Amino acid sequence: MNPSGGWVWHWHAWRHQHAWQESVLQLGQWLEETPTSSKELLLIGASAGWMMPSAWLQRFEKVTTFDIDIFAAPLFRRRHGPALQASGTQLRCHTSDALTHLQTVLRAHRRAAVLFDNVLGQVRFHHPTVDEASQRIETITKALRGRSWGSIHDAYSGKVVPSPRPRPLPSRLKTLQTPHHVSDSARMASPDFAEFGKQLQPQGEWLDHLTANVFPEGTPVHHIAWPYSRAYCHWLQAGWVAA
Ligand SMILES: C[S@@+](CC[C@H](N)C(=O)[O-])C[C@H]1O[C@@H](n2cnc3c(N)ncnc32)[C@H](O)[C@@H]1O
Repeated sequence: MNPSGGWVWHWHAWRHQHAWQESVLQLGQWLEETPTSSKELLLIGASAGWMMPSAWLQRFEKVTTFDIDIFAAPLFRRRHGPALQASGTQLRCHTSDALTHLQTVLRAHRRAAVLFDNVLGQVRFHHPTVDEASQRIETITKALRGRSWGSIHDAYSGKVVPSPRPRPLPSRLKTLQTPHHVSDSARMASPDFAEFGKQLQPQGEWLDHLTANVFPEGTPVHHIAWPYSRAYCHWLQAGWVAA
């Protein structure tokens, strides 16, 4: 059983496309601003690209996706294939564990910009302990030194005051990655964070996805709300690290 993908995820994503529109729009705006001039993209944790605008993928000459989910490749091709064919973008979809074999995957795509597409926040569900998950994330970010790479990932998630209809989302917030020694509570106490968090209307304690130190200090980090369901919300972070 894949704890972060599989048919349950695809069913949920398909049913919530409308409710996720605003988050997808904010992600698309961030993607358009990413400073990558690479002609090739490596997309890790691509799934079916439910939250990925085809228009951004069309800027590349070649897009290579990786996901461990057997449904991901055929669904990604179905959702994005026609647009990529129209732009002459070559598409290759692989079903394999690109995080465990990251060094090999990076070596095979030396010129590609790398995007972790909502996968680093899922690492904790694929490891038995929080320590192992944190170590895996650290190993991944170290392997990326010298590459142009970005990540969209869950920072936190949790229950929100249930709403019968889609609620207005906070606007995308931009901050700079704080030094890694700054504690999570100190980070959360900053006025920007506190205000963004308040607008999500959280209830109870939220889950920490262990991604607080994914980006090097000083990286611009964009915060985007993702109303996963009427009663559960994710706080996404997106950032790009130049080569
Ligand atoms: C939240 S979903 C990604 C959503 C996707 N970016 C979209 O727009 O639809 C997380 C994905 O990461 C994949 N995944 C988890 N661990 C992985 C690994 N080690 N290598 C490749 N993909 C992985 C899961 O199978 C799942 O499809």
